[in-house]
Amino acid sequence: MKILVTGGAGFIGSNFIRYLLAAHPEHTVVNIDKLTYAGNLENLRDIEHLPSYTFVKGDICDKKLIESLEFDAIIHFAAESHVDRSILDSFPFLQTNIIGTQNLLEAARKRDCRMLHVSTDEVYGSIGHGLFTERSPIVPNSPYAASKASSDLLVRAYHETYGMDLLITRCSNNYGPYQFPEKLIPLVISHALRGKTIPVYGDGQNVRDWIHVLDHNRAVDIAFHRAKGGDIYNIGGRNEQKNIDIIRALLGIIAERTGRDREGLFGLITFVKDRPGHDRRYAIDPSALEAALGWRPEIPFDQGLADTVAWYIENRRWWERVISGEYLEYYQLQYGGRLEE
Ligand code: NAD
Ligand code: DAU
Repeated sequence: MKILVTGGAGFIGSNFIRYLLAAHPEHTVVNIDKLTYAGNLENLRDIEHLPSYTFVKGDICDKKLIESLEFDAIIHFAAESHVDRSILDSFPFLQTNIIGTQNLLEAARKRDCRMLHVSTDEVYGSIGHGLFTERSPIVPNSPYAASKASSDLLVRAYHETYGMDLLITRCSNNYGPYQFPEKLIPLVISHALRGKTIPVYGDGQNVRDWIHVLDHNRAVDIAFHRAKGGDIYNIGGRNEQKNIDIIRALLGIIAERTGRDREGLFGLITFVKDRPGHDRRYAIDPSALEAALGWRPEIPFDQGLADTVAWYIENRRWWERVISGEYLEYYQLQYGGRLEE
């Protein structure tokens, strides 16, 4: 199968392509990515030479371009993904996350092909007690979450209206290699390694439900190959953590691995003004996916966190090039193009 993967130069998408091509040598991948600030072709350096992999620089909102591509199925990761940026300017979020998704749905409709839409637990808003199930109300609180909820509803509506072969997965917070260092875990690691203060929003007691990116991607793979059209599945690691606990755990691991002074690292923690509309708690029930398709998260959080710290220590050059902006040159060097094209 020739699979169109959107947003494959981002954090989850690049890990997904690497996983998919190793797990399914029978498939080929066309990766379409606009290379926004979050897209980094250096994430795919080790696989870009494979004959089963092709990169197309492009926007999922570009109708003509999508029409011109050949594919048998779509796995849709591309999005504006950072909540804080959506609070500053929601326009690109509505454009890419809603209009871009609609454009892909139309392309899938013309080809009568399967499309898996990668969504998020943030569409359910914040929960006081209990767990989000696939039947929980959709009550998003940030512009990012509202744009993802809108795209979910479009996917659902296209399935109902046109009987299309569409799937939705809603995952909790991911962590692991190649995550852009504006998100909590890589931000803490990269700040700690440079002795920079670590901003904790509000009281640090907000809860997120963390899962390793490889566990998420295995679930997407299984859903893509085995779920039936119209299915919606939650994906989560049954791993609720308060932000402040994660930050302390990360600093403890860094102290151990680098021999840095523990107290000095803990002294970098700085409580700052809260994120507006900050969701208090996410907690996801993945039992439907476990029961129907036999998926289980496999990477224990302690091990995943320690491996992630090790990856950021060993790959310091990767995130330093992101922070300095040098990573943007890679497209030009490797593909001979300029980013504004
Ligand atoms: P990311 O920001 O790291 O990557 C997004 C990628 O999409 C980038 O490569 C970017 O260049 C590309 N992109 C953005 N706009 C585009 C456009 N108009 N056309 C083509 N490409 C475009 O995001 P991520 O963390 O890898 O998230 C991937 C998907 O998973 C998103 O849909 C997100 O909503 C969802 N998700 C993320 C998490 C998480 O914890 N990170 C959890 C659940 C779901
Ligand atoms: O739940 C899934 C979602 O997880 C995805 O849909 C999003 O794409 C992804 O970005 C993530 O959203 P969050 O807002 O939960 O992730 P972020 O890493 O931005 O923040 C995690 C928590 O840490 C959140 O409660 C805010 C807090 N935080 C974040 C940053 C960047 C801080 O306290 N300080 C910070 O500097």
